[in-house]
Amino acid sequence: MIRQQGRFFHLCDGAISYILEILDDGTPGHVYFGAAMADLELEDLEYMARRCGKSTGTVKAIAGTSFSLADQMLEYPVYGTTSFLEPALAMEQEGMPLYLRLAYTGFEIRDGKEKSMPGPQTRPDPKAQSLILHLADRDAQVEVDLSYTIYMQGATVVRSAKITNLANCPRNLTHAASGVLNVRDTGWNWIHLNGSWARERQIVEQALVPGTAVIESLTGASSHQCNPWNALVKSPDSPASCQGDNNLAYGCNLVYSSNFKAQADINEFGLLRVMEGIHPLTFGWTLQPLASFQTPEMLLFCSIEGLDGLSRVSSRFLRDHLINPNFVYKRRPVCLNSWEAVYFTLNEQNLLELAREAAKCGIDCFVVDDGWFGHRDLDNSSLGDWYPDQKKFPSGLDAFARQIRSLGMQFGLWFEPEMISEDSELYGKHPQWAVKPPAGQYSVGRSQLVLDFSCPEVVEYIFRQMCQVIESTKLSYIKWDMNRSITEAYSQYLAQEKEGQKEFFYRYIYGVYALYEKLTEAYPDVLIEGCAAGGGRFDPGILYYSPQIWTSDNTDAFDRLKIQCATSLAYPLSTLSNHISQFPSHQTGRTFTSEFQKDVALFGIFGYELNLIEDHRFSPADLTGQIGQYRQMEPAILHGDFYHLASPFASNEPAVALYWDGKRPQSAPKTASNSHQVLSKQEQAFVGFYQTLSSLHSIYRPALPLPFLADGQYLIQPLQAQSSMQLHLDLEEENPGKQTSDSQSARNMEPEVIRGQLLRHDGLRKPVKNNGSNRNVAQFIGDFQAMIMELKKIG
Ligand code: GLA
Repeated sequence: MIRQQGRFFHLCDGAISYILEILDDGTPGHVYFGAAMADLELEDLEYMARRCGKSTGTVKAIAGTSFSLADQMLEYPVYGTTSFLEPALAMEQEGMPLYLRLAYTGFEIRDGKEKSMPGPQTRPDPKAQSLILHLADRDAQVEVDLSYTIYMQGATVVRSAKITNLANCPRNLTHAASGVLNVRDTGWNWIHLNGSWARERQIVEQALVPGTAVIESLTGASSHQCNPWNALVKSPDSPASCQGDNNLAYGCNLVYSSNFKAQADINEFGLLRVMEGIHPLTFGWTLQPLASFQTPEMLLFCSIEGLDGLSRVSSRFLRDHLINPNFVYKRRPVCLNSWEAVYFTLNEQNLLELAREAAKCGIDCFVVDDGWFGHRDLDNSSLGDWYPDQKKFPSGLDAFARQIRSLGMQFGLWFEPEMISEDSELYGKHPQWAVKPPAGQYSVGRSQLVLDFSCPEVVEYIFRQMCQVIESTKLSYIKWDMNRSITEAYSQYLAQEKEGQKEFFYRYIYGVYALYEKLTEAYPDVLIEGCAAGGGRFDPGILYYSPQIWTSDNTDAFDRLKIQCATSLAYPLSTLSNHISQFPSHQTGRTFTSEFQKDVALFGIFGYELNLIEDHRFSPADLTGQIGQYRQMEPAILHGDFYHLASPFASNEPAVALYWDGKRPQSAPKTASNSHQVLSKQEQAFVGFYQTLSSLHSIYRPALPLPFLADGQYLIQPLQAQSSMQLHLDLEEENPGKQTSDSQSARNMEPEVIRGQLLRHDGLRKPVKNNGSNRNVAQFIGDFQAMIMELKKIG
C-alpha cells in the first residue's frame, strides 16, 4: 500500500493515491492526491512531479540555484523560509523566532495504526499502513515526524505532525497545524458550514481567489459558527472542470473539538492549499528539553463523485475508523427527552406520568434533561452539584430510575460536566476552579462559568460525582451538554503550575477528553450523546466517544431539513440525533403536519422531545407506528449510504435517499453488541420526498433518478412498519374513526414493482397524494408535506 520509489512515496489504499516527494533541499513536497493509480514506475512519478520553472522573482532556498520553496506544493511549511504563505510550524526560543530548515532524514513504513497519543484519533487497524517521514534541523536541534496513515479503501489520508525539542533549553511552539492539503490548479470553490445557535451548519460556498480565506473558531468549542469540516469542489464554470476526473472533490476535517483554524490560500503561482489545525491565536506550548508535541489528526478525504460522493467517503470513514465502536453499528434507543416537555418544571410525579405514556408507545429510554440536580429551578444555579434535588425526587433518584426500568425503559440523564454556577456548593468550596481572571471583570453566559478542565483534579472530582449518579441509578444514557463559550481564559491551576496560559484551550479540551475516556472505560455500555447548546460541538473529536450528537436546539422540522442536510455532508446519519418536538415549534412557532416532522426526524437517530400527555396529535399507536418505521430504517441508517438528491438550500422540493446493499460493511467490527442485529437483509432504499411550500403548478412529470440502484425489480411502497403496523391496526380497532395520517397515506398508494434500470435513469415518480377531487394530482397538497418511500429489491 505504501511504497518508497527513489525520492517519492506513494500511498495507495485501492481507492486513492497520495504521492509526495523529497525536494532538492530535503523539504517534503506534494505531487498528487486523487484516484488510485496502482503500479506507478519511477519514471511515471518523475513525469508527475515535472513542473515548469516559475521561480523567477523568488528568493532562492539554495544559493547558486533557482530552487525556491515559493512555487512548490509543501507538505508542512515552516516559518521564515522562502515560502511566504502562513506556516504550519513556528517555534521560538526565549521570544526569538527559530529559523528552521527541516530536511528529510529517513522514513518508516509501519503496518497497522497504533494509538499514538492520548485523546481522540483514528482507531487502530492491522490493515492500515502508516508512513512516518523523519525531518530534522540538526543545528537548531528540532525534529519533526510527519505521519500519514491510510486504511484499505478509505479514500482518506490521516495526517499529523510530532515536534520534538532536542536542545537542552525549553522552546515555545507558536504554530503547529496538523497538515496541509495541496491542490495544483485553480477554479475551486470552498464549501464550509457556518451558522449560529439554532441555525447550525448552513452551507456556504465561496469561489476561491488569490489570497486567503479563513474559517475558524475561538469559542473554546468547535462551535456553532464554523465547523472544522470543509471541502473543495470544482466551480462549474472553471476551465479545470473540463479536465479529467472533473467530479473530483476534496474534504478536510480535524479530530479536535476546540479552537481551530482552516485557511485556504492561493498564491501567485496558482497553488491552492488548505491548512488546518489548532488555532494559533489561542495556542502556545512550551516544549521542555527532549519533550514532544503531537498535533491532533487532520483527515483528508477525496472523491471522484463530487461533493455528494465526498459525503459518503467521509461518513464511511468516520464510522469505520473513528466513531466509538461500541455503538457505531449498534441499534440505538429511541429516547423521550423531558426538555421541551417540561423544561425546569419537572418533578417525580409529572415525569412518571410522562414515562408511563412513553412506555405505552414503545419508547426505549426515558431521559430526564436539565433540572434534576442541586436546587436548579432555573438556569442560574447548581451546575457542579451533581446530586439529585430531594424536593423534586422525594423518594430518591435511584428509586425513580427503578420505576422507569420497571416500565421496561432505560434511564438517561442530562449533565453539563464542564460548567459551574456561582450559585452552587461547588463554587462555595472551590471558587478557584472557575475559569476567570484573578482580578477585574469577567463574562457570564447563561448565568454560568466554565470549570477549569485543564486541572486534572477538577476532572477527577466531576468524574467521581458522575460515577455516583451513574451507579446509583444504573444509568444507560447520558446527554453531555456544554452551554457556553469560553472567555477570559485564565486558569489558576496553570498559573500555580507555572504553565503558560496559552496552553489553556488545548489542555482544557484534553481534560474533556480525559473525562470522556474515564467514563467510557468505566461504563462502556453507557451511551453518551454529545451536545453543546444544540450542535455547537459537532466534530470528530466528540464522535470518537459519543456515537451521536444532538444536532440542534432548533427542532422546527423545516429548519432541520437544512441543518440535517448540511450536517450529513460531513458526518454519518447515525451521528445526527433528531427528535419530534412540541407543536407548534417552540423555537419558531411554526406548525407542521406530524408526518412532516416525523419524516424529517427519521433520517437520523430518532426520538422525542414531547409532552405526550398534553400533545393530542398522536395516539400511542401513532408513536408505536413511527418507532416501527424507524426500526425498519435503522439498519440502513447505521450501515447505508446517504444521497442528497435535491437540496433544501436550493429547492422547495428537497429529496434524500438512503441506500443499503443489505450487507454489513467489511470493516464493521463484529463485536458481541452488534451480533443481535438483523443482517444480510435484502438490498433496500428509503427515499424521502418533501415539499416545503405548496406549489400548484409544479413539474408535470416529476421524477427523481436513483443512481445507486442496480438492475432487477424493485418493490416500491410508502414506508410502513410491518411489526408495529399490526399493533397499529389493533389499536385502531379500539378507536374506530380515528385515522392516523400515516395509515391514510399508506392507503392512498398501491405498491408497485418497477425495474431498477428505469429508476436509475428515468427516475422514481414522486408520490401521488389524492386531494379527493382528482386522483391524478401528482404532487403534495399543502405546505410542509413529506413522504418516505421504501424500495426493496425483489429480483
Ligand atoms: C441546551 C441543550 C438543550 C437542553 C438545555 C437544557 O440548550 O442543547 O437540549 O438540554 O441545554 O438546559
